Amino acid sequence: MKLDNPFLIRGYAGPEYFCDRAAETQQLVSAISNGRDVTLVAPRRYGKTGLVHNAFRILEKTHATVYLDIFAIEFATAVLDRLDSPAERVGRKLLSFFRSCRPTLTPKDDGSFAFSFDLAPSQAKATLKDTFDYIASRRRKVAIAIDEFQQVREFPEKGTEALLRSYIQFVPNAHFIFAGSRKHMMDAMFVSPKGPFYQSTQLMALSPIDAGKYDEFAAGFFRGDRRTFSDGAFRHLYDRFAGITWYIQSILNRIWTHGRGLDSAQQVDDTVDELVAEAESFYFDLLRSQTAAEQSILKAVGREGVVKSISGGDFITRNALPAASTVRSAAAKLAERDLLYRSDAGYVVYDRFFGLWLKRL
Ligand SMILES: Nc1ncnc2c1ncn2[C@@H]1O[C@H](COP(=O)(O)OP(=O)(O)OP(=O)(O)O)[C@@H](O)[C@H]1O
Ligand SMILES: [Mg+2]
Repeated sequence: MKLDNPFLIRGYAGPEYFCDRAAETQQLVSAISNGRDVTLVAPRRYGKTGLVHNAFRILEKTHATVYLDIFAIEFATAVLDRLDSPAERVGRKLLSFFRSCRPTLTPKDDGSFAFSFDLAPSQAKATLKDTFDYIASRRRKVAIAIDEFQQVREFPEKGTEALLRSYIQFVPNAHFIFAGSRKHMMDAMFVSPKGPFYQSTQLMALSPIDAGKYDEFAAGFFRGDRRTFSDGAFRHLYDRFAGITWYIQSILNRIWTHGRGLDSAQQVDDTVDELVAEAESFYFDLLRSQTAAEQSILKAVGREGVVKSISGGDFITRNALPAASTVRSAAAKLAERDLLYRSDAGYVVYDRFFGLWLKRL
């Protein structure tokens, strides 16, 4: 199928719309084909989910493939958490409903599986066991990807991951890809000696797509459509967002929509401004729903871009922030809610577009 706009901003539409990741795809396919489970960890929007789908395209030839996204329930929770309107009470009720749910994997007649939520924990556990018994009883090899896997740690019923691990051990024909974006939570399960999955999987990190390969991919579409394409402008875009896939896709998608070529750094910057402006009211509400201390920290990080030491005296004085201990704990909370991200270089606003909006305040 030929797409009108070749730059996807969600989902997966086949290898022609998927840039590179050849080595990573091969790594995943090889691990699963050789009976190794994989843990795939990268920050939000690097392209984990896309990569899993790209590998599944190949694995489909030899395996039944199952893709589950645990984030779906937690997302509803996060949105409801922010509501402070009269809808709150309804929200709370829904919230407790979601919290009492467990994801269950139900076998269907055709050998595939349905992912559903079930109210009764005991029943859910039985279903999990049934599911693995069922998989084990079949000859067919199965590849199961569980996306946003760190979220199992937030399930009210503790020990979901240990339970899962205990079943997985005895199902030789099923192999797993555990993908997640929260490194410390994933590490606690897979890397820590105390974790239930300690040394049981192959660890895989995901870096941004190579700049040259990405340039070639984007240029192919523009030039193929008889549009102009400036490598310099692309490089400007790539560098501005540190090569993070989703931002680059979003900007290219929009420039393509305008019916133009990719011509200049200025055009890239104007398009970035356009996208940031569109999200204005969302960002405004998002900011306003944080505590006063959290708001001032978000603004300060947005202004400075990268903050090496979040509770450092310089940073605090420059931005007239509260005491170091307050800043430290507020920053930790913001990081837990994916509003700040702690990279090797320091704290950044996780959503880069949000960061640009904050900078402008
Ligand atoms: N290699 C690629 N080439 C082109 N587009 C890609 C590639 N990988 C991902 N994308 C696109 O980039 C966007 C973000 O990718 P994806 O959803 O896979 O990231 P993610 O790491 O799973 O993010 P999140 O943590 O938010 O779930 C999607 O729209 C996807 O279609
Ligand atoms: Mg994803």
